[in-house]
Amino acid sequence: MFGEILLDRTLASFTVCRWCLQRLSAEVFRLLTTFRRRQHSRRFVIAVLSTILLYYLLLSTISYTRRPRKRKTPPILSHFMFESMHGNVNESSNFTKQIWVFNNSDAERIYLYANLLQKLPWKANPQHLDNFRRELNAETNVSTDRDLILTQTNVQLDQEMPCYFDTKKSMLKYPHFVATKDFMSTLPKESPLKGKRYEKCAVIGNSGSLKQSTCGSQIDGMDFVFRCNGAPLEGFVTDAGKRTDFLTFNPSILYKRFGGLVNESMIESYITFMKQYDSMVWYPCFGSRQLVEPCIKAISYHDQVDSRLVIGHPSHYVSIWEFWKRRGLRKKPSTGLYLVSLAATLCNEIHLYGFWPFPIQLHEGKVQETAYHYFNNLPFTSHHSSDSEFRLLLQMHMLGSVNLHMGTCTQ
Ligand SMILES: *[C@@H]1O[C@H](CO)[C@@H](O)[C@H](O)[C@H]1NC(C)=O
Ligand SMILES: *[C@@H]1O[C@H](CO)[C@@H](O)[C@H](O)[C@H]1NC(C)=O
Ligand SMILES: *[C@@H]1O[C@H](CO)[C@@H](O)[C@H](O)[C@H]1NC(C)=O
Ligand SMILES: *[C@@H]1O[C@H](CO)[C@@H](O)[C@H](O)[C@H]1NC(C)=O
Ligand SMILES: *[C@@H]1O[C@H](CO)[C@@H](O)[C@H](O)[C@H]1NC(C)=O
Repeated sequence: MFGEILLDRTLASFTVCRWCLQRLSAEVFRLLTTFRRRQHSRRFVIAVLSTILLYYLLLSTISYTRRPRKRKTPPILSHFMFESMHGNVNESSNFTKQIWVFNNSDAERIYLYANLLQKLPWKANPQHLDNFRRELNAETNVSTDRDLILTQTNVQLDQEMPCYFDTKKSMLKYPHFVATKDFMSTLPKESPLKGKRYEKCAVIGNSGSLKQSTCGSQIDGMDFVFRCNGAPLEGFVTDAGKRTDFLTFNPSILYKRFGGLVNESMIESYITFMKQYDSMVWYPCFGSRQLVEPCIKAISYHDQVDSRLVIGHPSHYVSIWEFWKRRGLRKKPSTGLYLVSLAATLCNEIHLYGFWPFPIQLHEGKVQETAYHYFNNLPFTSHHSSDSEFRLLLQMHMLGSVNLHMGTCTQ
């Protein structure tokens, strides 16, 4: 109904413009041909002046037809849409007042995503997941068994290890880390995940949408649980669970939370923090040259913690990054997307929790602000293409290759 009214208005202004354009081109054509025939400069000046005048008239017609429409469109709260779609509207409300264009395209997109996810029942499609796995294996020259973790077989003594986030310039400035004998002796003989396959895996993103989700026991019921970037367990078990089999630990966390391990008290708090895990902890040490030594230092406390501390192989990350880059992902993949790609090679069914990357969400039919992380108050960042990654995962959800869990979990 509103669509028709808008269409009518657009048609009307379009008709006016078309009339103007026809007149304008006829006039210009006539004047130009006259000018060519007679070569008269006064006529030329008149032609130019009338063209300018006609353009001016045309422009003012367009802005005239636009201006009142802009003023008449009320500022529409995206909230209306959400509320009307979730039963918070009674008979006496004017339905068509609730349905209106969104005030911005972000609100519209979030609305569409949320509704798609809530209304589509998920059905696993092992064939699609298998195809994804085969594509990954065929197009990346790395394998999870051989290259996910640095081992004594996939690194050679005295091998130079470049860092993938460093620019060519900084790589020239700082010497590459070289795999010394001492370093080699800290590496495992082979990957602890070699030959392992799991039935149901969960990858836990760190989105604030996990708050009040009560998904903890569902997550703990999985066969293998991946977590990102040192996500804390204590205090969040009801919503995020506690089972952890594979945790990534970005070396920048050593600076953000543990002062770069510069003194005993910082080392102490790092070791205390690590005691909450009993899993494999995977440190991507070779991202940035400056973080390599602190990262290796963090791993050197392995006998004081219960977890098995391992180092990520830079080629594995780069290979997955390039896989997604070839598919149009502009920025580096988030740890979440990296883990989803990894899970595809290890698991028969993939469940994603906490992957909602937007600042608002639907919670029990109400619009709520969402934090970036469920465990702290960090602001939203744009290091990754969260929106593109989400669109990708949403499509994989629809194809049944991953299950993107949203909202609250029922037991
Ligand atoms: C759209 O509406 C939301 C919700 O009221 C508001 O926070 C936001 O500023 C509005 N955006 C624009 C572009 O008007
Ligand atoms: C129904 O909506 C009208 C208009 O928004 C409001 O005044 C009224 O209180 C509502 N009634 C109930 C029962 O919610
Ligand atoms: C709904 O709102 C429109 C526009 O404001 C009005 O013309 C119409 O009468 C209203 N309908 C009802 C049932 O209130
Ligand atoms: C994988 O391929 C890239 C180029 O695509 C190459 O630079 C790299 O050395 C290869 N790695 C291995 C382990 O073969
Ligand atoms: C240890 O280092 C941190 C961070 O640099 C500093 O805030 C703290 O005061 C230091 N503690 C001691 C005991 O030196």
